[in-house]
Amino acid sequence: MKEVVVVLDFGSQYNQLIARRIREKKVYSRILPFNVDFKTLRQLAPKGIILSGGPASVYQKGAPRIDKRIFKLGIPILGICYGMQAMVYALGGRVSPTQKREYGSATLFIDDAKDLFLGIPQKITCWMSHQDIVERLPEGFERLAHTDDTLFASIVDRKKKLFGVQFHPEVAHTQYGSDIIENFLYKVCECIGLWTMESFIEDATKKIRQTVRKGKVLCALSGGVDSSVTAALFNKAIGRKLFCIFVDNGLLRKNETNILRYIFVKKQGINLKIVNASKRFLSHLKGVTDPEEKRKIIGNEFIKVFEEESKNLGKIKFLAQGTLYPDIIESTSSFGGPSSTIKTHHNVGGLPKRMKLRLIEPLRDLFKDEVRVLGKKLGLPDSIVLRHPFPGPGLGVRIIGEITTENIRILREADEIVIEEIKKAGLYKSIWQSFAVLLPIKSVGVMGDERTYEKVIAIRAVESVDGMTADWVKMPYEVLNRLSNRIINEVKGVNRVVYDICSKPPSTIEWE
Ligand code: XMP
Repeated sequence: MKEVVVVLDFGSQYNQLIARRIREKKVYSRILPFNVDFKTLRQLAPKGIILSGGPASVYQKGAPRIDKRIFKLGIPILGICYGMQAMVYALGGRVSPTQKREYGSATLFIDDAKDLFLGIPQKITCWMSHQDIVERLPEGFERLAHTDDTLFASIVDRKKKLFGVQFHPEVAHTQYGSDIIENFLYKVCECIGLWTMESFIEDATKKIRQTVRKGKVLCALSGGVDSSVTAALFNKAIGRKLFCIFVDNGLLRKNETNILRYIFVKKQGINLKIVNASKRFLSHLKGVTDPEEKRKIIGNEFIKVFEEESKNLGKIKFLAQGTLYPDIIESTSSFGGPSSTIKTHHNVGGLPKRMKLRLIEPLRDLFKDEVRVLGKKLGLPDSIVLRHPFPGPGLGVRIIGEITTENIRILREADEIVIEEIKKAGLYKSIWQSFAVLLPIKSVGVMGDERTYEKVIAIRAVESVDGMTADWVKMPYEVLNRLSNRIINEVKGVNRVVYDICSKPPSTIEWE
């Protein structure tokens, strides 16, 4: 990558947001821990460095410190909140606790609009979240902006190209925040703006071709956003040398295999084998009710089927996998030190080792929203790139209790109604995940003049950023009403619908 701006992570919850804001401005960004090896940082030759915020106080024991050598690199630096305080502290200024903490909105008065604030109105609303304050500037610094309670809300040492803002330009509540970031990138760092999806596709396909050469690449297509975009990208790069396998475990949503066949085989022309292994899965799951046991059976069987199928394809050297940037970012979870958050993919995690395959992960530089844009550019429809996540064990973990063909039928029909109605109400895009769950109980009802004793469907809809934490969706009553009416009227065997109103934690998103 020719042009990169580095975000040094001091433990802020907004790191990824900063990185994304930079990329939205067509500049490639990378998040690195605050204590990244100095040589590594220098070799990257970033056009600029942003020091993120963080929960620490510079005077605290063990607070993350800046490697002072970065100030001598001649690279423009922007410190945000704690990042600015840490810079001031490192350069001999004074930071101290304030009596008047600022949380939330504040009015920012711009005193000097030459570069960072070029073109920004003199008075804007900014978003603050701090307990400490810069009290005395280091030598060479001057003020760029203030608020009623913060004398140094933004500062600069123009000679050294060191900037600081006490507020958070990356959050939506700061007016002109993204323009301020743009000014830093283009006016201060003199970026050109090389990061576009077209340039990514060009680089990625070239790299894939160089790595694969005459080899063959295997891809476990799940129909989810990440593996679908991965498959489309490899298809563009190497065409028939890509071999996709999709395992139908019998626990898929209604019409799933037909939809995938149409999109991937017919439209994209991808080399895809759809393996119908539902009988195998369902016979192994017979009588099993324990959630962990179900997961294990489904996971193991998946690997077996996948391995068997790939044997028919001859010698394969590579496995394409849709690992994303948030899966691999090394972040400082607290200021005690950097810790890597590495999520293993639930479904294909065991494959590369067991089958001695070399992993290729071309999406590992991208955020989810970028992957969606990439998918669109590669010709995938919205129905794929905007899809809600769907767990590997599929409906298996949404049928509480025993999995039978009758239970699968009921859940599939209810699930289809949930998705249909949520799309119709225009809510699908803003919801992280929505689905139906079949409960292992029956309840009494009355339909016409008859007593019924039938099954219960629970509806789950959550908002989330990464699936790690989630909140239940405050669904409009009319939508809930339609869901309940349609499910009870149209799905034979159900006479009651309930709505799940739990967040994660303490509950999880899936019921099993
Ligand atoms: P939980 O239920 O743990 O789910 O709150 C968090 C997110 O992960 C998805 N999920 C899975 N995805 N294989 C997957 O590919 C799995 O075994 C699996 N289990 C849960 C879940 O749908 C949610 O988006």
